Amino acid sequence: MDMRLESTRILIVDDDPATLRLLTKTLEKQGAQCLTATSGEEALAIMRTTPMDLVLTDIHMPGMDGLTFLRHLKEEMPVDAVVMTGDIKGFRYETIIHMGAVDFLVKPLEMNEVTLRLQRVIRERRLMRELEIAHATIKHSYLDTVRRLVVAAEHKDEGTGDHIIRMGDYCVLLASIMGLSSDFIERLRYASPMHDIGKIGIPDAILTKPGRLTDKEFTIIKTHTTIGAKILANSSSEVIRLGQSIAISHHERWNGTGYPQGLRGEAIPLAGRIVCAADVFDTLTSPRPYKSIYPAHVVYEFFEKENGAHFDPAIADLILNNFDHFLAIANLRHPAPYPTDADQFHLSERDIAEMR
Ligand SMILES: [Fe+2]
Repeated sequence: MDMRLESTRILIVDDDPATLRLLTKTLEKQGAQCLTATSGEEALAIMRTTPMDLVLTDIHMPGMDGLTFLRHLKEEMPVDAVVMTGDIKGFRYETIIHMGAVDFLVKPLEMNEVTLRLQRVIRERRLMRELEIAHATIKHSYLDTVRRLVVAAEHKDEGTGDHIIRMGDYCVLLASIMGLSSDFIERLRYASPMHDIGKIGIPDAILTKPGRLTDKEFTIIKTHTTIGAKILANSSSEVIRLGQSIAISHHERWNGTGYPQGLRGEAIPLAGRIVCAADVFDTLTSPRPYKSIYPAHVVYEFFEKENGAHFDPAIADLILNNFDHFLAIANLRHPAPYPTDADQFHLSERDIAEMR
C-alpha cells in the first residue's frame, strides 16, 4: 500500500509562519499539494473555492479560531480535518473528535508522527470510499436482478415493464403522504413491483384470456398470491421479505372479503393494503387484455364507494384527496366535462372480483 501522500491536497491552517513552512516542506516531500492559511476566515474562504482532501488546523489563532472554523467547515462540506494544539489541558480528545476532527496532534509537532497520522487518515478515507463504491455496486446489481425477475413474470400478461414502474411510483407517493419512514419507502419502492411475481406459475391461457373467467379459472388465478409468497419465502433480504408479505396480501380487502386468507382491517400488512389500492388504481387506469381504461371519474367514484370496504379508509382517502397526483402517474387527466353516458363504464362486482 502506498504510504506517501501522493497528490493529496492538504490545507494547513496556523497563525505561526514557521509552523506553516515546516509542515508544508514535510508534507510536500511526501508528494502532498499544500495550501496555507493563517486564520479560520482565510481557511474557510480557500475551502469554498478550492477542493481539498484534508485540513490540518491549529486551534488558537487570532480571528476565527480552529474549532469555530471546523464547525463552519462541517456544516458546509464533508472533508477530513486533523486538529493540532499545544494546549492539551484545555481540550479533551473526545471533545475535539466530537467537533468533527478525525484526529488530534499535540504540539510541539514531531514531523514523522504528523506524516504517519495524515497517511493513516488518507488511507482510511480511501478505504471508506472504495467500500462505499463496492456497496453501491452490489446494491445496484441486486436491485437490477430483482427488477429483471419481476419483468420476466410481468412479461407474460403485460408485455412491458410499465405497470411495475407505475406500481413503485404509486406506492412511494402513498407512503410519502402517509409520512412513513424513508427506509420503509425505499424498501416499498423495490418490493411493491413483486406483488404479482406468482403469475409465473399461472397458465398463459388463463392469464391473458379476454373476457370472463370461469370459477375454476378464477380459483387458479387466485393462487398467484400463494405462489408468489413461496417464490419469495425465507429470504435474508428485507426487500424480498417485504415483497413476500405484499405478494400474499395484496388481494386482501379491508372488509375481509379478499383472498387468499380473508384477512380483515389492520390484520392485513400495511404494505399489502398500500399495494392493493395502487394495484386496483393502476388496473382501472390502464388497458389489460380483458378490459379497457375506465374514465377518471369512474375510478374516483369506485374509490369513494369502496372506501372502508375494499380499501383501507385511510389509504382510499389519501388517493381521493390527491387524485390528480395519482392520475398524473397514470398519465391521465380528469376528462371534463364527464361523459354523460357514465353507465357504459359501470364497474360490476364481478369486474372487480376478477382483477388479476
Ligand atoms: Fe395480483
